[in-house]
Amino acid sequence: MHHFAYKEGELYCEDVPVSKIAREMGTPLYIYSHATLLRHFRAFDGAFGDVPHITCFAVKSNSNIAVLKLFAGEGGGADIVSGGELYRALSAGIDPGKIVYSGVGKTAEEMAYALRSEILMFNVESSQEIALLNDVAGKMGKRASIAIRVNPDVDPETHPYISTGLKEHKFGIDIEKALEDYRVASGLSHLHVAGVSCHIGSQLTRVSPFVDALRKLNEFVGKLRKKGIPIEYLDLGGGLGITYDKEAPPHPGEYAAALKKELDMEGLTVVLEPGRVIAGNAGILVAKVLYVKRSPQKNFVVIDAAMNDLIRPSLYGSYHDIQPVRRSEQGVLKADVVGPICESTDFMARDRDMAAFEPGDLMAVMSAGAYGFSMASNYNSRPRVPEVMVRKDRYFVIRERETYEDLVRGERIPDFPGGHKSVISNQ
Ligand SMILES: Cc1ncc(COP(=O)(O)O)c(C=O)c1O
Repeated sequence: MHHFAYKEGELYCEDVPVSKIAREMGTPLYIYSHATLLRHFRAFDGAFGDVPHITCFAVKSNSNIAVLKLFAGEGGGADIVSGGELYRALSAGIDPGKIVYSGVGKTAEEMAYALRSEILMFNVESSQEIALLNDVAGKMGKRASIAIRVNPDVDPETHPYISTGLKEHKFGIDIEKALEDYRVASGLSHLHVAGVSCHIGSQLTRVSPFVDALRKLNEFVGKLRKKGIPIEYLDLGGGLGITYDKEAPPHPGEYAAALKKELDMEGLTVVLEPGRVIAGNAGILVAKVLYVKRSPQKNFVVIDAAMNDLIRPSLYGSYHDIQPVRRSEQGVLKADVVGPICESTDFMARDRDMAAFEPGDLMAVMSAGAYGFSMASNYNSRPRVPEVMVRKDRYFVIRERETYEDLVRGERIPDFPGGHKSVISNQ
């Protein structure tokens, strides 16, 4: 359920016409619905309401600090994967005691920053990372709380690029081998073993892989306890899918109920790291149609948004629904929706039946609130687009459109001795 709907043929975000925002802000731009973000957070968090838990929003899915602030206000934490995401989470006022730090490649500097910030827990992913974190914490006179991210070897049945819980993936430590890492970690004086974590993939549309993973974790926690390693936190990661097209993923209530049935809760706090399920359908990307190229073989609707603004279709072949911002009687056109970038992978949709767009029309690329702006780049030297949050009948700019000056900020032309036309050697 989201708050993007048509009223008399006009697409609204809550009580604001999308065309009004596009007129005033220009295109392309991202629009998020405040009510949808809150509703999704509350539906998810509330579904676990009766068990001790922390909902740590996956910052990578939507990292705007205004979005993070909403969840901070709801008592949410953050799942971060870089020093930059830690900075964002702290800037948004998220309680550091509710921040978990995931990722296979944390640097010593990032570890030190997180230790200074007193985050809840590091989800460590290799023996070498365990040793380095112990070292960094030791030098700072601190003790780092850790969970080891175990790889339960469960197939999440999702796109291979967003599947993370199989033995062949770079993530986590094989659950068969992790006992030994726990033994080592619990003997290190600057680490405190606090939990077990896992994340098997993203955009899962069935609960059974989550349940399978949890059963393996339960068994594993039992083994740890037998070895005298008590566990306080069970981090189940994120991954619950959303409807982009015809998928019918479980409602957060159904997901929570299935997990709660399996939870062996004695003394455990559950950590959850949802991203997409909260932000995905809470945002759209709005673009303007520049040209319509028709040919006997194929039609192309060329828009002013591109793969640098929303890379999911190019990266994963993902489906995003394409809707006109103003419905009219213009009929149907089968076409590719493409952007101005010089790559054949620059598309939002392929061979899609859609409204017969004309130049100047506005188009909404739906379900773009997660892994949309947060994956945007400046490729082809395109300034990144603005982000706007609608709350009831008002909208708020939560990120300005970048300027051409922003594009070259930080770049330097070196002052070569002898000037720029210096002679190339060996000629
Ligand atoms: C460790 C971790 N936690 C949470 C998430 C969030 O996943 P999702 O947005 O599917 O909920 C991801 C996504 O890649 C992740 O890698």
